[in-house]
Amino acid sequence: MSCKKSYITTPIYYVNDVAHIGHAYTTIIADSLARYSRLIGEDTYFLTGTDEHGQKIEESAKSRGREPQEYADEVSKKFRDLWDDFNISYDKFIRTTDAEHKKGAQKAFSVMNKKGDVYKDTYQGHYCISCETFFPELQLVDGEFCPDCGKSTSVVEEESYFFKLSAYEDRLLAWYRDNPNCILPKSKRNEVIRFVEGGLNDLSITRTSFDWGVKLPKEFNEPKHVMYVWLDALMNYVTALGYGTDDKNMDYWPARVHLIGKDILRFHAIYWPAFLMSLDLPLPKHIGAHGWWTRNGEKMSKSKGNVVNPKEVADAYGLENFRYFMLREVPFGGDGDFSQRALMDRINSDLGNDLGNLVNRLMGMSRKYFEGRVESDLVKKYYQKELDEVQLSLDKLEPFIFELQLHRFLEELWRPLTVANRAIDKYQPWTMIKEGKSDETMALNGLIATILAKVSIMLHAVMPKTTDSIAKSLGFEISPESFEKYIRNDEVLASFTMEKRDALFPRIEKELLVDKHLEALKKEKEEREAKEAKKREAEKNGTTTDGIALIGIEQFFQTSIKIGTVVKAEEVKKSKKLLLLQVDIGEEYTRQIVAGIKEWYSAEDILNTQVCVVANLKPAKLMGMKSEGMLLAAKDGDGLCLIRPEKPKSNGTSIS
Ligand code: MSP
Repeated sequence: MSCKKSYITTPIYYVNDVAHIGHAYTTIIADSLARYSRLIGEDTYFLTGTDEHGQKIEESAKSRGREPQEYADEVSKKFRDLWDDFNISYDKFIRTTDAEHKKGAQKAFSVMNKKGDVYKDTYQGHYCISCETFFPELQLVDGEFCPDCGKSTSVVEEESYFFKLSAYEDRLLAWYRDNPNCILPKSKRNEVIRFVEGGLNDLSITRTSFDWGVKLPKEFNEPKHVMYVWLDALMNYVTALGYGTDDKNMDYWPARVHLIGKDILRFHAIYWPAFLMSLDLPLPKHIGAHGWWTRNGEKMSKSKGNVVNPKEVADAYGLENFRYFMLREVPFGGDGDFSQRALMDRINSDLGNDLGNLVNRLMGMSRKYFEGRVESDLVKKYYQKELDEVQLSLDKLEPFIFELQLHRFLEELWRPLTVANRAIDKYQPWTMIKEGKSDETMALNGLIATILAKVSIMLHAVMPKTTDSIAKSLGFEISPESFEKYIRNDEVLASFTMEKRDALFPRIEKELLVDKHLEALKKEKEEREAKEAKKREAEKNGTTTDGIALIGIEQFFQTSIKIGTVVKAEEVKKSKKLLLLQVDIGEEYTRQIVAGIKEWYSAEDILNTQVCVVANLKPAKLMGMKSEGMLLAAKDGDGLCLIRPEKPKSNGTSIS
């Protein structure tokens, strides 16, 4: 499987968002592959970068009152800073606003045109700005919404250049058929095949309704057109190597693997190979599509407030522990739910108990019995069976890496650690030493050290600094040379003296990050439950939730409420509160009502307006005046208002 040049890429990230663990995941997988590829002595080139053109970025910048270029500069730098902080070993960080990239993309456009693959027409259809994708009406959900992200699409009718994608259907199908591993995992390849077999439409590859994009080559003389952002973006994989400018690194092409998320598979597995065929360039060896990281089963999104910040996780739990967790926890291609509990378990169990503890045991045994000295000369004599078992596991590992089965890789890599821990329990060095079996004990330490060395080398791509530190304690350095020696040639570790060292993976007892999202969910749940409990309690007591006794309908009808019109209104001189009203409620005589509403209504305000009157109240006296009813009103912090019919109603109409 090994090839001399190894070109590994991540997607280029849109600059309309900050990085979350989904972005970190793609980048960490790619970084691990690149590191592994370098370790086995391949000439490796690792590319990442940012995707900066298109309507989505233009609109994002505008909504913040910024120029797109200035905005893209800022967000692109954030990605780059994060990857630097994460020790990502990229060889080039490309930006689609780089002059060389734009030149290369224009060159590609010209070449496709000369090939006869480009023609001008009118595009009529629907565009999802969020996915930067065109959709035929048939694919829309409810005739409007994007089938991928669910957001509303906009109707576009504009002059456009098209790429003859339909002409590549057969060649694409032949490529998938002849290269069973071209799309990984294989289940994804089947999805792509089914999609292409369903028929491909030609692809609109220019836009005229905005201008934040790569201009068309001069010979087109089309100042209004910019390149479709996915054409521009996909080209990054070759422009980064000098396509269309100096061709300097084009000998790295074709890519060994393009790592992507499953949401952008169609662009990479259909458009991209078709573009490459049109450009007469070889096709990538593998396209690896991973699944989604979710939160409590939900897709992460800013609006839901459930996005996990990779920097926070790495700062709290350790960057390399986080890397290990991401690659070990989820089978490549499947979705994974992020939880601190699962992360802690991996750290405490796999890393702490299995690996860290073994280093500790070796340190303890070698220092107690041999002043730290570890010699492996006799390992083969006493422990060949264990060595063979370890080698068997190691031999299985490499295919897992390049078939992107990183969880299997790590799972298998843990077997030698089990062999080592089991050997200690089985041979009991504390008994052997008492029995004077010094050689056997030393050889056992040599076996443990050899196993730790081999595992560290293989784990290096995933946990570079941690394994460097283990290697230092074991007196060697991880490099292509030590890979050759200890992995390929199956040698035992050279003698060394083990110094005292700190524990590698201190136990984590409780979650280290306050999970704001979970806390908010918890609070919401508590509030909901409290409300429900209150409701149940009220039902039990025969009251409303604010403690008012429930009544039957017959009790309600004992109150007679009627519409009336105020036919006379005067202020009660000596009172700040009272108005004296005569209200016609459809009876022979008007009712006299003394109402405490003077603070909010003048006599003039209320005269000739309709009100609701409680008509069967026993008359009462207020300031010596008889009151034969009560007006309905509502009062809150803002004051009082009368309750009135929405439309005029005959006086005397009953309210029910
Ligand atoms: N700009 C395009 C890629 C162009 S490549 C020529 C793009 N950018 S992106 O920033 O939206 O996404 C970049 C990568 O992050 C994609 O591979 C996507 O699948 C991945 N992820 C984004 N959210 C994710 C999760 N929640 N989980 C895992 N990965 C996801 O698409």
